[in-house]
Amino acid sequence: MSKTPDFVVNIIKMFWSPGKKILEIGCGPALLRREFGKDYTGVDIISDPYSLDLLRDVDIVCSADNLQVRDNSIDIVVIKSAFYLFDSHTNSLKESLRVLKPNGKLLIFDYNKRTQKVLQKKEGHNRYPCWTQWDLKKLVQSNGFKNVDLLLAEDKPSEKLRKTYRLLKNEFRGTWAIVCGTK
Ligand SMILES: C[S@@+](CC[C@H](N)C(=O)[O-])C[C@H]1O[C@@H](n2cnc3c(N)ncnc32)[C@H](O)[C@@H]1O
Repeated sequence: MSKTPDFVVNIIKMFWSPGKKILEIGCGPALLRREFGKDYTGVDIISDPYSLDLLRDVDIVCSADNLQVRDNSIDIVVIKSAFYLFDSHTNSLKESLRVLKPNGKLLIFDYNKRTQKVLQKKEGHNRYPCWTQWDLKKLVQSNGFKNVDLLLAEDKPSEKLRKTYRLLKNEFRGTWAIVCGTK
């Protein structure tokens, strides 16, 4: 079975400690459950298997824009490789904000513009948004999150100038757009 990339787990662990509740929206096979055990809840719009050998493992079946989750009950919302698929990005951000506790964190791991263009070319369509890291940051900011920042798929936090250079490099060579925001 596939595994969540280490950088995703490492970034989540920068904000998590045992007992803090994680909600993954668009969880699919819920690969993060093995890292976070009982602190983890996965929601997905469907629970059907992707295929015979790839199951979904869903705790709550619901849409990202109508979460069946209590207000102010979650410490960290994670959306990995799924945000671009949601029907309403604005409503799913509003729902994420609603379920987070005050000062709770939102972590979105999405594909950057370069990657999304390559994927869609391979698949022969242009259905999904192709956002830069900065576009995604602005979207999160404009939907009520504070301290919104871009993160990189690497372990070490880098000092500011170096980070700007790495973000630029990531836009043209990298894969991910990673945004963190606070309620
Ligand atoms: C590419 S999979 C990613 C699964 C998992 N996050 C991972 O990285 O392994 C995207 C998932 O998002 C789910 N999804 C798509 N639209 C959704 C929506 N509106 N609300 C909730 N989940 C949705 C899909 O059913 C699918 O399981």
